[in-house]
Amino acid sequence: MPVALIERFRSRLPVSDATPVVSLGEGSTPLLAVPRLSERLGLELFVKWEGGNPTGSFKDRGMTVAVSKALEAGARGVVCASTGNTAASAAAYAARAGLRAVVVLPRGAVARGKLSQALAVGAELREIDGTFDDALAAAAELGSQDGWTLVNSLNPHRLEGQKTAAFELLESLGRAPDVLALPYGGGGNTCAYARGFAEGGVTVPRLLAAEAEKRPVTAASAIRIVEPAHRAEAERRIAESGGRVVSLPDEEILEARHELAELEGVFCEPASAAGIAAAKRERPQGLVVCVVTGHGLKDPPA
Ligand code: F0G
Repeated sequence: MPVALIERFRSRLPVSDATPVVSLGEGSTPLLAVPRLSERLGLELFVKWEGGNPTGSFKDRGMTVAVSKALEAGARGVVCASTGNTAASAAAYAARAGLRAVVVLPRGAVARGKLSQALAVGAELREIDGTFDDALAAAAELGSQDGWTLVNSLNPHRLEGQKTAAFELLESLGRAPDVLALPYGGGGNTCAYARGFAEGGVTVPRLLAAEAEKRPVTAASAIRIVEPAHRAEAERRIAESGGRVVSLPDEEILEARHELAELEGVFCEPASAAGIAAAKRERPQGLVVCVVTGHGLKDPPA
Protein backbone atom coordinates (compact mmCIF):
# COMPACT_ATOMS: atom_id res chain seq x y z
CA MET A 1 0.00 0.00 0.00
CA PRO A 2 1.46 3.37 -0.94
CA VAL A 3 1.62 5.72 2.00
CA ALA A 4 1.17 9.47 1.72
CA LEU A 5 4.53 11.18 2.12
CA ILE A 6 2.94 13.61 4.57
CA GLU A 7 1.77 10.76 6.81
CA ARG A 8 5.12 9.04 6.68
CA PHE A 9 7.11 12.12 7.71
CA ARG A 10 4.36 14.10 9.46
CA SER A 11 6.43 15.14 12.48
CA ARG A 12 9.10 16.66 10.25
CA LEU A 13 6.78 18.60 7.94
CA PRO A 14 4.89 21.89 8.40
CA VAL A 15 1.47 20.22 8.73
CA SER A 16 -1.08 19.84 11.53
CA ASP A 17 -4.29 17.90 12.09
CA ALA A 18 -6.05 20.77 10.33
CA THR A 19 -4.13 20.19 7.09
CA PRO A 20 -6.17 18.29 4.48
CA VAL A 21 -3.71 15.76 3.03
CA VAL A 22 -3.67 15.80 -0.77
CA SER A 23 -1.75 12.73 -1.87
CA LEU A 24 -1.26 10.47 -4.87
CA GLY A 25 0.99 8.04 -2.99
CA GLU A 26 4.27 9.90 -3.58
CA GLY A 27 7.71 9.22 -2.15
CA SER A 28 9.04 5.87 -0.88
CA THR A 29 10.86 5.56 -4.20
CA PRO A 30 13.40 2.80 -4.80
CA LEU A 31 17.09 3.15 -4.11
CA LEU A 32 18.52 0.90 -6.81
CA ALA A 33 21.91 -0.74 -6.86
CA VAL A 34 23.28 -0.35 -10.38
CA PRO A 35 26.08 -2.94 -10.52
CA ARG A 36 26.56 -3.05 -14.30
CA LEU A 37 26.77 0.72 -14.61
CA SER A 38 29.04 0.87 -11.53
CA GLU A 39 31.37 -1.66 -13.06
CA ARG A 40 31.45 0.13 -16.42
CA LEU A 41 32.34 3.42 -14.73
CA GLY A 42 34.56 2.00 -11.97
CA LEU A 43 32.43 3.69 -9.29
CA GLU A 44 30.21 2.58 -6.40
CA LEU A 45 26.88 3.96 -7.61
CA PHE A 46 23.29 3.79 -6.43
CA VAL A 47 20.32 5.44 -8.10
CA LYS A 48 17.47 7.14 -6.22
CA TRP A 49 14.74 6.52 -8.80
CA GLU A 50 12.44 9.50 -8.56
CA GLY A 51 10.74 8.64 -11.85
CA GLY A 52 8.84 6.20 -9.61
CA ASN A 53 6.71 9.03 -8.22
CA PRO A 54 3.01 9.33 -9.23
CA THR A 55 3.51 11.90 -12.01
CA GLY A 56 6.95 10.56 -12.83
CA SER A 57 9.20 13.10 -11.13
CA PHE A 58 10.54 14.21 -7.75
CA LYS A 59 8.31 17.28 -7.91
CA ASP A 60 5.48 15.24 -6.33
CA ARG A 61 7.30 15.22 -2.97
CA GLY A 62 7.06 18.97 -2.74
CA MET A 63 3.70 19.30 -4.44
CA THR A 64 1.82 17.13 -1.94
CA VAL A 65 2.90 19.55 0.81
CA ALA A 66 2.43 22.76 -1.21
CA VAL A 67 -1.06 21.84 -2.48
CA SER A 68 -2.20 20.51 0.91
CA LYS A 69 -1.11 23.78 2.52
CA ALA A 70 -2.78 25.83 -0.26
CA LEU A 71 -6.04 23.95 0.32
CA GLU A 72 -5.72 24.47 4.08
CA ALA A 73 -5.24 28.20 3.48
CA GLY A 74 -8.42 28.36 1.39
CA ALA A 75 -6.84 28.90 -2.03
CA ARG A 76 -9.03 28.70 -5.15
CA GLY A 77 -6.19 27.74 -7.38
CA VAL A 78 -2.49 27.13 -7.75
CA VAL A 79 -0.13 28.57 -10.33
CA CYS A 80 3.39 27.72 -11.43
CA ALA A 81 5.92 28.35 -14.15
CA SER A 82 7.55 25.24 -15.46
CA THR A 83 9.85 23.48 -17.87
CA GLY A 84 7.20 20.73 -17.62
CA ASN A 85 7.51 18.54 -14.55
CA THR A 86 6.34 21.08 -12.00
CA ALA A 87 3.36 21.75 -14.28
CA ALA A 88 2.46 18.06 -14.54
CA SER A 89 2.75 17.65 -10.79
CA ALA A 90 0.92 20.84 -9.82
CA ALA A 91 -1.89 20.00 -12.25
CA ALA A 92 -2.33 16.50 -10.86
CA TYR A 93 -2.34 17.51 -7.19
CA ALA A 94 -4.66 20.45 -7.91
CA ALA A 95 -7.10 18.09 -9.65
CA ARG A 96 -6.91 15.77 -6.66
CA ALA A 97 -7.70 18.71 -4.37
CA GLY A 98 -10.48 20.15 -6.53
CA LEU A 99 -8.47 23.32 -7.16
CA ARG A 100 -7.78 25.15 -10.41
CA ALA A 101 -4.26 24.95 -11.81
CA VAL A 102 -2.71 27.51 -14.12
CA VAL A 103 0.65 26.60 -15.61
CA VAL A 104 2.82 29.14 -17.39
CA LEU A 105 5.19 27.57 -19.90
CA PRO A 106 7.87 28.75 -22.30
CA ARG A 107 6.30 28.11 -25.72
CA GLY A 108 7.83 25.23 -27.67
CA ALA A 109 10.29 24.32 -24.90
CA VAL A 110 8.32 21.73 -22.93
CA ALA A 111 8.44 17.98 -23.66
CA ARG A 112 5.20 16.59 -25.14
CA GLY A 113 4.62 14.01 -22.42
CA LYS A 114 4.61 16.68 -19.74
CA LEU A 115 2.15 18.87 -21.68
CA SER A 116 -0.19 15.88 -22.07
CA GLN A 117 0.02 15.15 -18.37
CA ALA A 118 -0.96 18.70 -17.41
CA LEU A 119 -3.78 18.91 -19.99
CA ALA A 120 -5.21 15.48 -19.18
CA VAL A 121 -5.91 16.47 -15.59
CA GLY A 122 -7.46 19.79 -16.54
CA ALA A 123 -4.74 22.41 -16.08
CA GLU A 124 -5.10 25.76 -17.83
CA LEU A 125 -2.03 26.30 -20.00
CA ARG A 126 -0.58 29.73 -20.64
CA GLU A 127 2.28 29.61 -23.11
CA ILE A 128 4.46 32.66 -23.27
CA ASP A 129 7.05 33.76 -25.80
CA GLY A 130 10.05 33.78 -23.52
CA THR A 131 12.19 31.65 -21.28
CA PHE A 132 11.40 29.73 -18.09
CA ASP A 133 12.71 32.74 -16.19
CA ASP A 134 10.11 34.99 -17.90
CA ALA A 135 7.40 32.43 -17.16
CA LEU A 136 8.37 32.45 -13.48
CA ALA A 137 7.95 36.21 -13.29
CA ALA A 138 4.47 35.91 -14.86
CA ALA A 139 3.48 33.08 -12.52
CA ALA A 140 4.69 34.95 -9.44
CA GLU A 141 2.50 37.87 -10.51
CA LEU A 142 -0.66 35.71 -10.61
CA GLY A 143 0.45 33.87 -7.47
CA SER A 144 0.45 37.13 -5.54
CA GLN A 145 -3.25 37.70 -6.28
CA ASP A 146 -5.98 36.88 -3.81
CA GLY A 147 -7.01 33.22 -3.80
CA TRP A 148 -3.98 31.99 -5.74
CA THR A 149 -0.91 30.17 -4.46
CA LEU A 150 2.41 30.00 -6.30
CA VAL A 151 3.67 26.40 -6.16
CA ASN A 152 7.12 26.86 -7.64
CA SER A 153 9.98 26.09 -5.27
CA LEU A 154 9.92 29.72 -4.10
CA ASN A 155 6.97 28.41 -2.07
CA PRO A 156 8.80 27.10 1.03
CA HIS A 157 6.47 24.11 1.41
CA ARG A 158 7.88 22.64 -1.79
CA LEU A 159 11.41 22.19 -0.45
CA GLU A 160 10.04 20.95 2.88
CA GLY A 161 8.45 18.07 1.01
CA GLN A 162 11.48 17.49 -1.20
CA LYS A 163 13.86 17.17 1.77
CA THR A 164 12.16 13.84 2.59
CA ALA A 165 14.20 12.17 -0.15
CA ALA A 166 17.27 12.63 2.08
CA PHE A 167 15.40 10.99 4.99
CA GLU A 168 14.61 8.02 2.75
CA LEU A 169 18.26 7.69 1.75
CA LEU A 170 19.28 7.64 5.43
CA GLU A 171 16.69 4.91 6.07
CA SER A 172 17.75 2.81 3.08
CA LEU A 173 21.51 3.06 3.61
CA GLY A 174 21.64 3.41 7.39
CA ARG A 175 23.98 6.34 6.79
CA ALA A 176 24.54 9.25 4.42
CA PRO A 177 26.20 8.52 1.09
CA ASP A 178 29.68 10.00 0.64
CA VAL A 179 28.59 11.82 -2.50
CA LEU A 180 25.22 12.93 -3.85
CA ALA A 181 25.08 13.79 -7.55
CA LEU A 182 21.99 15.44 -8.97
CA PRO A 183 20.81 17.77 -11.74
CA TYR A 184 21.07 21.49 -11.02
CA GLY A 185 18.36 23.60 -12.62
CA GLY A 186 16.97 26.21 -10.26
CA GLY A 187 18.86 24.61 -7.36
CA GLY A 188 15.82 23.98 -5.18
CA ASN A 189 16.34 20.24 -5.03
CA THR A 190 20.02 20.67 -4.14
CA CYS A 191 18.99 22.86 -1.19
CA ALA A 192 16.24 20.42 -0.19
CA TYR A 193 18.64 17.44 0.02
CA ALA A 194 21.22 19.46 1.97
CA ARG A 195 18.55 20.58 4.43
CA GLY A 196 17.21 17.04 4.74
CA PHE A 197 20.60 15.55 5.58
CA ALA A 198 21.31 18.36 8.05
CA GLU A 199 17.93 17.79 9.75
CA GLY A 200 18.67 14.07 9.76
CA GLY A 201 21.68 14.86 11.93
CA VAL A 202 24.37 13.71 9.49
CA THR A 203 27.13 15.41 7.53
CA VAL A 204 25.84 16.58 4.17
CA PRO A 205 27.41 14.40 1.46
CA ARG A 206 29.70 16.01 -1.09
CA LEU A 207 27.23 17.56 -3.50
CA LEU A 208 27.92 17.28 -7.22
CA ALA A 209 25.38 19.63 -8.80
CA ALA A 210 25.18 18.90 -12.51
CA GLU A 211 24.17 21.73 -14.80
CA ALA A 212 24.06 21.99 -18.56
CA GLU A 213 27.07 23.84 -19.91
CA LYS A 214 24.73 25.72 -22.23
CA ARG A 215 21.86 26.39 -19.84
CA PRO A 216 19.64 28.44 -22.21
CA VAL A 217 19.65 25.91 -25.06
CA THR A 218 20.37 22.47 -23.58
CA ALA A 219 18.57 19.39 -24.90
CA ALA A 220 17.92 18.59 -21.23
CA SER A 221 14.83 20.82 -21.38
CA ALA A 222 13.88 20.28 -17.72
CA ILE A 223 16.97 22.22 -16.64
CA ARG A 224 16.84 24.87 -19.36
CA ILE A 225 16.96 27.67 -16.78
CA VAL A 226 19.22 30.69 -17.17
CA GLU A 227 19.09 32.17 -13.68
CA PRO A 228 18.75 29.59 -10.86
CA ALA A 229 16.23 30.92 -8.31
CA HIS A 230 18.13 29.23 -5.45
CA ARG A 231 21.66 29.93 -6.67
CA ALA A 232 22.90 31.66 -3.51
CA GLU A 233 21.81 28.97 -1.05
CA ALA A 234 22.57 26.08 -3.40
CA GLU A 235 26.11 27.18 -4.19
CA ARG A 236 26.82 27.96 -0.53
CA ARG A 237 25.65 24.47 0.48
CA ILE A 238 27.59 22.85 -2.36
CA ALA A 239 30.78 24.65 -1.26
CA GLU A 240 30.20 23.78 2.42
CA SER A 241 29.84 20.11 1.48
CA GLY A 242 33.18 20.10 -0.30
CA GLY A 243 31.40 19.48 -3.59
CA ARG A 244 31.13 21.47 -6.78
CA VAL A 245 28.98 22.54 -9.69
CA VAL A 246 29.78 20.37 -12.71
CA SER A 247 28.97 21.92 -16.10
CA LEU A 248 28.28 19.32 -18.74
CA PRO A 249 27.92 19.32 -22.51
CA ASP A 250 24.67 17.77 -23.76
CA GLU A 251 26.53 14.82 -25.30
CA GLU A 252 27.71 13.66 -21.86
CA ILE A 253 24.23 13.99 -20.36
CA LEU A 254 22.63 12.06 -23.22
CA GLU A 255 25.31 9.37 -23.12
CA ALA A 256 24.73 8.87 -19.38
CA ARG A 257 21.01 8.56 -20.05
CA HIS A 258 21.67 5.91 -22.66
CA GLU A 259 24.06 3.92 -20.46
CA LEU A 260 21.66 3.91 -17.50
CA ALA A 261 18.89 2.65 -19.78
CA GLU A 262 20.89 0.04 -21.59
CA LEU A 263 22.90 -1.35 -18.67
CA GLU A 264 20.27 -1.14 -15.93
CA GLY A 265 16.84 -0.87 -17.56
CA VAL A 266 16.16 2.51 -16.00
CA PHE A 267 14.69 4.89 -18.58
CA CYS A 268 14.88 8.52 -17.53
CA GLU A 269 14.45 11.87 -19.22
CA PRO A 270 17.61 13.67 -20.37
CA ALA A 271 18.02 16.14 -17.49
CA SER A 272 17.62 13.32 -15.00
CA ALA A 273 20.83 11.65 -16.13
CA ALA A 274 22.93 14.74 -15.41
CA GLY A 275 23.96 13.49 -11.96
CA ILE A 276 25.29 10.29 -13.48
CA ALA A 277 27.18 12.25 -16.12
CA ALA A 278 28.70 14.39 -13.35
CA ALA A 279 29.82 11.31 -11.40
CA LYS A 280 31.34 9.93 -14.58
CA ARG A 281 33.27 13.13 -15.10
CA GLU A 282 34.41 13.61 -11.48
CA ARG A 283 35.09 9.95 -10.59
CA PRO A 284 34.40 10.40 -6.85
CA GLN A 285 35.53 7.84 -4.28
CA GLY A 286 33.11 6.14 -1.90
CA LEU A 287 29.40 5.52 -2.01
CA VAL A 288 27.75 7.73 -4.62
CA VAL A 289 23.99 8.22 -4.89
CA CYS A 290 22.81 9.70 -8.18
CA VAL A 291 19.35 11.24 -8.02
CA VAL A 292 17.51 10.33 -11.22
CA THR A 293 14.76 12.90 -11.17
CA GLY A 294 12.20 12.09 -13.86
CA HIS A 295 10.79 9.36 -16.11
CA GLY A 296 11.88 8.81 -19.71
CA LEU A 297 8.33 8.51 -21.02
CA LYS A 298 7.93 12.24 -20.51
CA ASP A 299 10.48 13.02 -23.19
CA PRO A 300 11.20 9.99 -25.39
CA PRO A 301 14.24 10.15 -27.66
CA ALA A 302 13.43 10.82 -31.32
N1 F0G B 1 15.34 17.19 -13.01
C1 F0G B 1 14.13 17.34 -13.54
C2 F0G B 1 13.53 16.16 -14.23
C3 F0G B 1 13.45 18.58 -13.44
O1 F0G B 1 12.25 18.70 -13.96
C4 F0G B 1 14.09 19.65 -12.79
C5 F0G B 1 13.42 20.95 -12.66
C6 F0G B 1 15.35 19.44 -12.25
C7 F0G B 1 15.95 18.20 -12.37
C8 F0G B 1 16.12 20.52 -11.55
O2 F0G B 1 15.72 20.69 -10.24
O3 F0G B 1 15.34 23.14 -10.35
O4 F0G B 1 15.40 21.93 -8.17
O5 F0G B 1 17.48 22.28 -9.50
N2 F0G B 1 12.31 21.21 -13.23
C9 F0G B 1 11.54 22.45 -13.03
C10 F0G B 1 10.15 22.31 -13.66
C11 F0G B 1 12.25 23.67 -13.41
O6 F0G B 1 9.55 23.32 -14.03
O7 F0G B 1 9.67 21.19 -13.77
P1 F0G B 1 16.01 22.09 -9.50
